[in-house]
Amino acid sequence: MSSSITAEKITKSFGNRAVLDGIDLDIQSGEIFGLLGPSGAGKTTLIRILTGQLPQDSGTALITGTDTRRLSGNDRRRFGITMDDFGVYERLSCYENLKIFAGIYGAGKREINEVLAKVGLSGAAKTPAGKLSKGMTGRLKLARAFMTDPDILFLDEPTSGLDPVSAAEIHKMILDEKKRGKTVFLTTHTMTEAEKLCGNIALLNEGRIVEYGSPEDICRRYDHQRRLKIHLKDGSDIEIPHNVSAAGTIAELIGSGKAETIHTTEPDLETVFMELTGKELSA
Ligand SMILES: Nc1ncnc2c1ncn2[C@@H]1O[C@H](COP(=O)(O)OP(=O)(O)O)[C@@H](O)[C@H]1O
Ligand SMILES: [Mg+2]
Repeated sequence: MSSSITAEKITKSFGNRAVLDGIDLDIQSGEIFGLLGPSGAGKTTLIRILTGQLPQDSGTALITGTDTRRLSGNDRRRFGITMDDFGVYERLSCYENLKIFAGIYGAGKREINEVLAKVGLSGAAKTPAGKLSKGMTGRLKLARAFMTDPDILFLDEPTSGLDPVSAAEIHKMILDEKKRGKTVFLTTHTMTEAEKLCGNIALLNEGRIVEYGSPEDICRRYDHQRRLKIHLKDGSDIEIPHNVSAAGTIAELIGSGKAETIHTTEPDLETVFMELTGKELSA
């Protein structure tokens, strides 16, 4: 596996506020990487830097080996981007919305129709974007990123604000791209999304990456948060820490015949994030 995106000691301040404070990344080609962090953590800023839209203050970022401060037009064709603040032109049709960007990339009618089909919007090609459902709008934004059939996709909160069914449709499209060997860099503040899609994730908090690895590995590192969940015959549940202090309680509940089932619950990423930052991710 070769590195697709690397970052070394990236810093970025706005005014006197340090938004990114020494970011290191090493994203392998073909993986889905998830950057997680609460609103304002610096996720969009980092994508801007990695895609050459914004210069960092210091540090180096490479995308398929090229310094992101020196990307050529040809380099840019090799990655597709949706940003959380990219809008759509509501009065223009889906087709026309895509045509605006197709021009930039030297893509034409054929490519536009292909991406519309790929995101399931062929039937809505002539529909004004303002008339689309939220899920369809999400797919239109994705179509824009797919336009040049790029090797790397940067998807900034691709399912933000979507209902679970629409989000699942987009998840499937992202997983299909991975199957085709594409590299995906996505940001999210939903843990379940990261657990479902990502091979590796980084948790960003106050400008620093506070955890990095596969969702399973990260959760395992926080094994001390593992809990025992005991379901009682009277229908109630109790949860206790998964350690030696639980022994007495369990012995008593089993001895008295009150316990029906006992499960261990693994800590999830949300719990891990809370422990690391004292903050809720989705807040
Ligand atoms: N161009 C800018 N000028 C000044 N401040 C900015 C600019 N872009 C982002 N910020 C600030 O940087 C912080 C991180 O923003 P952002 O990267 O958008 O976070 P996220 O995408 O994680 O929500 C926020 O406090 C935001 O207000
Ligand atoms: Mg953002």
